[in-house]
Amino acid sequence: MNDSAKDPSQRPEHPDFWCKRFGAGQTPWDAGRVPADFAAFVATRNAPLTTLIPGCGSGWEAACLADAGWPVTALDFSPVAVARAREVLAGHAVELVCADFFTYRPATPPDLIYERAFLCALPRKLWPDWAAGLARLLPPGGLLAGYFFVCDQLKGPPFGITQAQLDELLADAFECIEDRPVSDSIPVFAGRERWQLWRRRQDGRPAER
Ligand SMILES: C[S@@+](CC[C@H](N)C(=O)[O-])C[C@H]1O[C@@H](n2cnc3c(N)ncnc32)[C@H](O)[C@@H]1O
Repeated sequence: MNDSAKDPSQRPEHPDFWCKRFGAGQTPWDAGRVPADFAAFVATRNAPLTTLIPGCGSGWEAACLADAGWPVTALDFSPVAVARAREVLAGHAVELVCADFFTYRPATPPDLIYERAFLCALPRKLWPDWAAGLARLLPPGGLLAGYFFVCDQLKGPPFGITQAQLDELLADAFECIEDRPVSDSIPVFAGRERWQLWRRRQDGRPAER
């Protein structure tokens, strides 16, 4: 059966896939807390960064950023995920948007895009569009920070990416300025997760998509 003939709830590029899992409480990727490298990154910046979190899920990090006084938009295309995030984010100053990352156009460009378990949730055929979307949304000097599932796990989600594949996706428009292993991963990612910080190049090719 080709992919588009499958039930949408079996296709991770479709919101129904994620709605079904959030609705059933089957969210093994959800840390239920803010990871340490992210918390350290926020704590060591001199000034707030306007942040976009694509594929935010429950939105733990969005709450943390709002508490630190950072302007933050948390975006997810699954209405059930957004409903869950609305509970987690109650009382926090977060713009919560139900939209598809690939068609989302913010009124003002973010300074930072935060990545956790979004890229590895996307089928590989969408990865070039993901990279182009980042390059389109972030101005020169803008940052991409977060967690990458760096391994050769073919079946997913989570879909593993090799470092060479990630470099190929990002290197035209971004330079990697931090890269280290993660010590507080949850079991699905343990031993295969890296914290990375990428900066949008001044001279990076603008994305056409
Ligand atoms: C594996 S979950 C990760 C959630 C969250 N980032 C976390 O770390 O817990 C992937 C999330 O990405 C969302 N998602 C997948 N494709 C999307 C798209 N094209 N636009 C917006 N959200 C998307 C799903 O609905 C789901 O909530």
